[in-house]
Amino acid sequence: MNEKKTMLSGIQPSGDLHLGNYLGPMRHWPGMIETYDCFFFMADLHTITVRQDPAQLRKRTLTQIAQYIASGLDPEKCTLFVQSHVPAHAQLGWVLNCYTMFGELSRMTQFKDKASKHSENINAGLFTYPVLMAADILIYQPDYVPVGEDQRQHVEICRDIAERFNGIYGDVLRVPEPYIAKVGARIMSLNAPETKMSKSLPEGCVFLMDKPEDIMRKFKRAVTDSDTERCVRYAPGEKPGVSNLVQIYAAATGKSFEEIESEFAGQGYGKFKPAVGEAVVETLRPIREETERLLADKAYLESVYRAGAEKAGCVAEKTLRKVYKKLGFLAR
Ligand code: TRP
Repeated sequence: MNEKKTMLSGIQPSGDLHLGNYLGPMRHWPGMIETYDCFFFMADLHTITVRQDPAQLRKRTLTQIAQYIASGLDPEKCTLFVQSHVPAHAQLGWVLNCYTMFGELSRMTQFKDKASKHSENINAGLFTYPVLMAADILIYQPDYVPVGEDQRQHVEICRDIAERFNGIYGDVLRVPEPYIAKVGARIMSLNAPETKMSKSLPEGCVFLMDKPEDIMRKFKRAVTDSDTERCVRYAPGEKPGVSNLVQIYAAATGKSFEEIESEFAGQGYGKFKPAVGEAVVETLRPIREETERLLADKAYLESVYRAGAEKAGCVAEKTLRKVYKKLGFLAR
């Protein structure tokens, strides 16, 4: 069969994808599908831990699939699917709830953080979210889970749950390794460069579906720095705004920081900001155009996520059967 190592990652369709998502993790995925047997899913079950607008959620889920394909995830070479299409995630999630301690979930920093932000809706799903995530992972028995730094603790608890389960029932679940990408650029907000680019600061955030004129406007208004040298230089501590733009320009053009510094030497920021904007427009153009084309072909997208759910479902179902058997559930 296949000797490639397996990799799995889930992405919540809870917001529109932006430049930070693209230049950080997404840009590296097309290369990864050549090396690994990859599963990517839209984590819709996870999004409802906070209230979602149903029509928006449906639209975002479909758009996100189209954007992944458009940015190079060839569905012939990896498995793309929607989490809620594979019921085994929720089924294993229930099982693992019974092997996860209240105390360890209480220590999750993301729970504490989200609970304080959504104090009107601290639901049980928000609390047990890492258990569902552990089920998402363990059900495919992957070798690696590529995640951002913010999800590292969730991969750790997943490993703890798997080890606890294996300690009781034998080697049932493969214990995966987190895979924190080496080159993942950390893109900051264009108008608040101390914070990560995020959809909650839309003026400082470049969305993958933004029109070129909107992208240009956002870059022209980007916050630079109030120092007197007014020189394009990568120095994140001293010059967070300019350094962020240098990083974006480097990622979009493939140029090194040194090349960029000499390209704009003695020119101030007036030429630099629109140049970054143009580079980003050209980087995103093919992705936006291809996404639009795919969204106009619903039948094709449907065929992709159906085939994905079929393939993922077979793998997931096998793990679930094995777990049920170990637990002593009577076979159907
Ligand atoms: N919790 C992840 C996030 O918010 C999304 C996610 C859900 C995930 N299930 C996963 C990531 C499984 C990796 C593996 O970003």
